[in-house]
Amino acid sequence: MKPRAVVIGGTGMLAGLLDRLLDSHNVIALARGLTHPWPTEPITTVRCDYQNNADVNDAVDRLIADPRPIDLIVSWIHSPTEDVERRLIQPLLARYLKCRWVAIRSSAASRPVHAAMPEWLPDTSTFVTVRLGFVIEGDRSRWLSDHEIVAGVAEAILTGNDSVTVGTLDPWSRRP
Ligand SMILES: NC(=O)c1ccc[n+]([C@@H]2O[C@H](COP(=O)([O-])OP(=O)(O)OC[C@H]3O[C@@H](n4cnc5c(N)ncnc54)[C@H](OP(=O)(O)O)[C@@H]3O)[C@@H](O)[C@H]2O)c1
Repeated sequence: MKPRAVVIGGTGMLAGLLDRLLDSHNVIALARGLTHPWPTEPITTVRCDYQNNADVNDAVDRLIADPRPIDLIVSWIHSPTEDVERRLIQPLLARYLKCRWVAIRSSAASRPVHAAMPEWLPDTSTFVTVRLGFVIEGDRSRWLSDHEIVAGVAEAILTGNDSVTVGTLDPWSRRP
Protein backbone atom coordinates (compact mmCIF):
# COMPACT_ATOMS: atom_id res chain seq x y z
CA MET A 1 0.00 0.00 0.00
CA LYS A 2 1.47 3.34 -1.06
CA PRO A 3 1.63 6.04 1.62
CA ARG A 4 -0.18 9.31 0.98
CA ALA A 5 1.46 12.62 0.10
CA VAL A 6 -0.43 15.86 0.72
CA VAL A 7 0.48 18.87 -1.42
CA ILE A 8 -0.96 22.07 0.04
CA GLY A 9 -1.37 24.76 -2.61
CA GLY A 10 -0.51 22.07 -5.16
CA THR A 11 -2.72 23.07 -8.07
CA GLY A 12 -0.71 26.04 -9.38
CA MET A 13 3.03 26.09 -9.91
CA LEU A 14 3.29 22.69 -8.17
CA ALA A 15 0.83 20.90 -10.46
CA GLY A 16 3.73 19.09 -12.17
CA LEU A 17 4.88 17.74 -8.82
CA LEU A 18 1.59 15.90 -8.30
CA ASP A 19 2.29 13.68 -11.31
CA ARG A 20 5.89 13.08 -10.28
CA LEU A 21 4.79 11.82 -6.87
CA LEU A 22 2.29 9.32 -8.25
CA ASP A 23 4.87 6.53 -8.66
CA SER A 24 5.57 6.47 -4.95
CA HIS A 25 2.45 7.90 -3.33
CA ASN A 26 -1.28 8.27 -3.31
CA VAL A 27 -1.32 11.98 -4.00
CA ILE A 28 -3.71 14.49 -2.44
CA ALA A 29 -3.89 18.10 -3.67
CA LEU A 30 -5.33 20.62 -1.24
CA ALA A 31 -6.52 23.99 -2.58
CA ARG A 32 -9.68 26.07 -2.95
CA GLY A 33 -10.24 25.08 -6.56
CA LEU A 34 -10.71 28.75 -7.50
CA THR A 35 -7.85 29.92 -9.64
CA HIS A 36 -6.26 26.84 -11.21
CA PRO A 37 -7.42 23.72 -13.04
CA TRP A 38 -8.64 21.10 -10.61
CA PRO A 39 -6.59 17.87 -10.77
CA THR A 40 -8.31 14.70 -11.93
CA GLU A 41 -7.98 11.00 -11.05
CA PRO A 42 -5.79 9.38 -9.83
CA ILE A 43 -5.02 12.52 -7.81
CA THR A 44 -7.35 13.03 -4.88
CA THR A 45 -8.51 16.57 -4.17
CA VAL A 46 -9.40 18.19 -0.89
CA ARG A 47 -11.21 21.48 -1.33
CA CYS A 48 -10.11 23.79 1.48
CA ASP A 49 -9.51 27.49 1.96
CA TYR A 50 -6.64 27.41 4.40
CA GLN A 51 -7.62 30.87 5.67
CA ASN A 52 -10.98 29.45 6.81
CA ASN A 53 -10.89 27.61 10.17
CA ALA A 54 -13.91 25.42 9.46
CA ASP A 55 -12.45 24.35 6.11
CA VAL A 56 -9.13 23.52 7.75
CA ASN A 57 -10.78 21.46 10.51
CA ASP A 58 -12.84 19.56 7.93
CA ALA A 59 -9.77 18.89 5.79
CA VAL A 60 -7.75 17.60 8.76
CA ASP A 61 -10.64 15.36 9.87
CA ARG A 62 -11.03 13.99 6.36
CA LEU A 63 -7.31 13.29 5.96
CA ILE A 64 -7.02 11.58 9.35
CA ALA A 65 -10.19 9.50 8.83
CA ASP A 66 -8.43 7.61 6.01
CA PRO A 67 -6.40 4.70 7.49
CA ARG A 68 -3.54 5.05 4.97
CA PRO A 69 -0.48 6.78 6.44
CA ILE A 70 0.76 10.18 5.29
CA ASP A 71 4.56 10.26 5.05
CA LEU A 72 5.03 13.47 3.03
CA ILE A 73 3.52 16.96 3.22
CA VAL A 74 4.60 19.61 0.73
CA SER A 75 3.30 23.09 1.53
CA TRP A 76 3.16 26.21 -0.59
CA ILE A 77 1.23 28.66 1.56
CA HIS A 78 1.03 32.37 0.90
CA SER A 79 2.31 34.44 3.81
CA PRO A 80 1.66 34.85 6.61
CA THR A 81 2.18 31.10 6.92
CA GLU A 82 2.60 30.47 10.65
CA ASP A 83 -1.04 30.32 11.71
CA VAL A 84 -2.08 28.20 8.72
CA GLU A 85 0.80 25.80 9.32
CA ARG A 86 -0.12 25.41 12.98
CA ARG A 87 -3.80 24.74 12.26
CA LEU A 88 -3.36 22.56 9.19
CA ILE A 89 0.02 20.85 9.40
CA GLN A 90 0.59 20.46 13.15
CA PRO A 91 -2.33 18.02 13.66
CA LEU A 92 -1.13 15.93 10.71
CA LEU A 93 2.45 15.77 11.99
CA ALA A 94 1.14 14.91 15.46
CA ARG A 95 -0.84 12.02 13.93
CA TYR A 96 1.81 10.80 11.44
CA LEU A 97 4.97 10.92 13.51
CA LYS A 98 7.44 9.92 10.81
CA CYS A 99 6.03 12.33 8.26
CA ARG A 100 8.43 14.55 6.31
CA TRP A 101 7.31 18.15 5.80
CA VAL A 102 8.74 20.08 2.86
CA ALA A 103 7.93 23.78 3.37
CA ILE A 104 8.39 25.98 0.30
CA ARG A 105 9.32 29.58 1.10
CA SER A 106 9.23 32.54 -1.24
CA SER A 107 12.36 34.60 -1.85
CA ALA A 108 11.19 37.35 0.49
CA ALA A 109 10.22 34.88 3.24
CA SER A 110 13.68 33.33 2.93
CA ARG A 111 15.32 36.48 4.30
CA PRO A 112 17.06 35.98 6.71
CA VAL A 113 18.28 32.81 5.05
CA HIS A 114 17.97 30.59 8.14
CA ALA A 115 14.18 30.33 8.40
CA ALA A 116 13.15 29.20 11.87
CA MET A 117 11.81 25.71 12.39
CA PRO A 118 8.39 25.89 14.10
CA GLU A 119 8.74 25.25 17.83
CA TRP A 120 5.73 22.91 17.73
CA LEU A 121 7.38 20.51 15.28
CA PRO A 122 7.40 16.97 16.78
CA ASP A 123 10.95 15.59 17.34
CA THR A 124 10.16 12.67 15.08
CA SER A 125 9.21 14.79 12.06
CA THR A 126 11.66 15.79 9.36
CA PHE A 127 11.51 19.43 8.30
CA VAL A 128 12.85 20.45 4.91
CA THR A 129 12.91 24.04 3.68
CA VAL A 130 12.88 24.81 -0.04
CA ARG A 131 13.72 28.45 -0.72
CA LEU A 132 12.64 29.87 -4.04
CA GLY A 133 15.26 32.17 -5.43
CA PHE A 134 15.81 33.70 -8.84
CA VAL A 135 18.04 33.11 -11.85
CA ILE A 136 20.81 35.45 -12.96
CA GLU A 137 21.46 35.34 -16.71
CA GLY A 138 24.30 37.66 -17.63
CA ASP A 139 23.28 41.19 -16.77
CA ARG A 140 19.60 40.24 -16.33
CA SER A 141 17.69 38.34 -13.64
CA ARG A 142 14.39 36.48 -13.75
CA TRP A 143 12.09 34.58 -11.42
CA LEU A 144 11.98 30.78 -11.53
CA SER A 145 9.69 28.97 -13.93
CA ASP A 146 7.14 26.45 -12.65
CA HIS A 147 9.27 23.71 -14.21
CA GLU A 148 12.37 24.83 -12.31
CA ILE A 149 10.41 25.05 -9.06
CA VAL A 150 8.95 21.55 -9.47
CA ALA A 151 12.39 20.11 -10.31
CA GLY A 152 13.91 21.78 -7.23
CA VAL A 153 11.20 20.53 -4.90
CA ALA A 154 11.41 17.00 -6.37
CA GLU A 155 15.17 17.06 -5.79
CA ALA A 156 14.68 18.18 -2.18
CA ILE A 157 12.29 15.26 -1.65
CA LEU A 158 14.76 12.79 -3.19
CA THR A 159 18.00 13.96 -1.62
CA GLY A 160 16.82 14.36 1.95
CA ASN A 161 18.81 17.59 2.48
CA ASP A 162 17.17 19.72 5.14
CA SER A 163 17.58 22.95 3.17
CA VAL A 164 17.50 23.51 -0.56
CA THR A 165 17.65 26.77 -2.52
CA VAL A 166 16.21 26.68 -6.03
CA GLY A 167 18.10 29.18 -8.14
CA THR A 168 19.97 31.70 -6.04
CA LEU A 169 19.26 34.30 -3.33
CA ASP A 170 22.64 35.99 -3.73
CA PRO A 171 23.36 38.68 -4.38
CA TRP A 172 19.97 39.80 -3.10
CA SER A 173 20.41 43.10 -4.91
CA ARG A 174 20.15 41.19 -8.23
CA ARG A 175 16.61 39.89 -7.61
CA PRO A 176 14.25 40.76 -10.50
N1 LIG B 1 10.99 32.87 -6.58
C1 LIG B 1 10.27 32.61 -7.66
O1 LIG B 1 10.82 32.57 -8.74
C2 LIG B 1 8.77 32.41 -7.53
C3 LIG B 1 8.18 32.34 -6.27
C4 LIG B 1 6.80 32.19 -6.20
C5 LIG B 1 6.05 32.09 -7.35
N2 LIG B 1 6.66 32.17 -8.57
C6 LIG B 1 5.89 32.08 -9.81
O2 LIG B 1 4.72 32.87 -9.68
C7 LIG B 1 3.61 32.16 -10.19
C8 LIG B 1 2.37 32.41 -9.34
O3 LIG B 1 2.63 31.97 -8.04
P1 LIG B 1 1.49 31.79 -6.92
O4 LIG B 1 2.02 32.09 -5.61
O5 LIG B 1 0.21 32.41 -7.35
O6 LIG B 1 1.37 30.24 -6.87
P2 LIG B 1 0.51 29.17 -7.55
O7 LIG B 1 1.18 27.93 -7.17
O8 LIG B 1 0.25 29.43 -8.98
O9 LIG B 1 -0.92 29.28 -6.76
C9 LIG B 1 -1.05 29.15 -5.39
C10 LIG B 1 -1.55 27.76 -4.96
O10 LIG B 1 -2.09 27.90 -3.64
C11 LIG B 1 -3.52 27.66 -3.68
N3 LIG B 1 -4.10 28.63 -2.76
C12 LIG B 1 -3.97 29.98 -2.78
N4 LIG B 1 -4.66 30.51 -1.76
C13 LIG B 1 -5.23 29.47 -1.08
C14 LIG B 1 -6.07 29.37 0.06
N5 LIG B 1 -6.48 30.45 0.74
N6 LIG B 1 -6.44 28.13 0.48
C15 LIG B 1 -6.06 27.03 -0.19
N7 LIG B 1 -5.26 27.06 -1.27
C16 LIG B 1 -4.86 28.27 -1.72
C17 LIG B 1 -3.91 27.85 -5.15
O11 LIG B 1 -5.09 27.17 -5.53
P3 LIG B 1 -6.54 27.87 -5.47
O12 LIG B 1 -6.35 29.32 -5.84
O13 LIG B 1 -7.39 27.12 -6.44
O14 LIG B 1 -6.97 27.71 -4.06
C18 LIG B 1 -2.69 27.22 -5.80
O15 LIG B 1 -2.75 25.81 -5.69
C19 LIG B 1 3.99 30.69 -10.21
O16 LIG B 1 3.53 30.11 -11.39
C20 LIG B 1 5.51 30.67 -10.07
O17 LIG B 1 6.17 30.21 -11.24
C21 LIG B 1 8.02 32.33 -8.69
